[in-house]
Amino acid sequence: MLDQLEKIKKQAQAELKKIKENSEIEKFRLKYLGRQGELTKVLRQLKDIAEEEKPKVGQLANDLKLIIAEELKNIADRLSDQGESDQVTKVDLTLPGQQILVGSLHPNTIIQNELEDIFRSLGFMVLEGPDVESDYYNFEGLNIPADHPAREMQDTFWLTDGHALKPHTSALQVRTMEKYGAPLRAIFPGRCFRYEATDASHETTFYQLEGLMIDKDISIANLIAVMKELLRAVFGRDVKVRQRPGFFPFVEPAFELDINCMICEGKGCSVCKQSGWVEILPCGLVHPKVLEYGGLDPQVWSGFAFGLGLTRLVMMKYGIDDIRLLQSGDLRFLKQF
Ligand code: FA5
Repeated sequence: MLDQLEKIKKQAQAELKKIKENSEIEKFRLKYLGRQGELTKVLRQLKDIAEEEKPKVGQLANDLKLIIAEELKNIADRLSDQGESDQVTKVDLTLPGQQILVGSLHPNTIIQNELEDIFRSLGFMVLEGPDVESDYYNFEGLNIPADHPAREMQDTFWLTDGHALKPHTSALQVRTMEKYGAPLRAIFPGRCFRYEATDASHETTFYQLEGLMIDKDISIANLIAVMKELLRAVFGRDVKVRQRPGFFPFVEPAFELDINCMICEGKGCSVCKQSGWVEILPCGLVHPKVLEYGGLDPQVWSGFAFGLGLTRLVMMKYGIDDIRLLQSGDLRFLKQF
């Protein structure tokens, strides 16, 4: 039996040297160590041999089993290292690169960032307010009392507790005066919500950018100078505008500043409702009552406010002919910016 084991050992060692693939390892293991394996068969005969031979034969058989197992492990490790390095060398550097997914800024954000930079350079703070706002800041503090017909202008999403989704960024005017006092210069870009039918230029959720400047002796001249600067900075050129009287209970006098429709160059289209003009920048001098609500003395302080239609400005800047595209989530649209 010792001879038999020696023979198996030599044969196994010779075959181990020839192993080149993982599949051969398993074949080898079955051939020698499997239930019907050559070494297993010998070990099974151990019970039939003479007592005095048992320890020696048993020792040799076990040693052989361990040597084979150890050697198989070494071979498996070597093959796996080799496999990894083979994979590295198999990378085809001539293949086209894989596209990396990179997000980009929404056009609304791009223009908002630009405007914030412009206003910061003019000494304005950039503030943010809540989307769910009280009746007081949305309306009452803006000189729009409960029974005032001006409330009809805002088709508002009301909550059951009397709060509402803010229908305009003007909701932050009184909060800002209360917090910062006067003099002050601030803009508040933000989302607005209105319960209205959508079309090419109306959305239920859109962005405005409010501006508020309070100081001594603020006049319409200051207001117009800032408005012009704003439009020149955004469009990089003088833009054709028209000014007409407006009505907002929180400013007096009130104006509407419209810009020539850049989608149709003033010829008339669905965005400008065939008028050639787009309502974009209502503004005016802060009403004395609103200054009072903000805790400021109207005999001392005066100011201007404007409520830029940011989403519409974005449309004009990029020639977007339907406001609904902006929040459609359509990647074909978004990838253009
Ligand atoms: C207001 O919201 C006033 N708070 C603006 C204001 C501020 C006036 C300060 C005076 C002083 P108006 O409802 O007109 O006003 O809206 C302002 C601008 O927001 C509009 O000119 C328009 O550009 C934009 N806008 C209004 N409704 C929508 C809508 N549904 N979708 C997209 N843009 C809109």
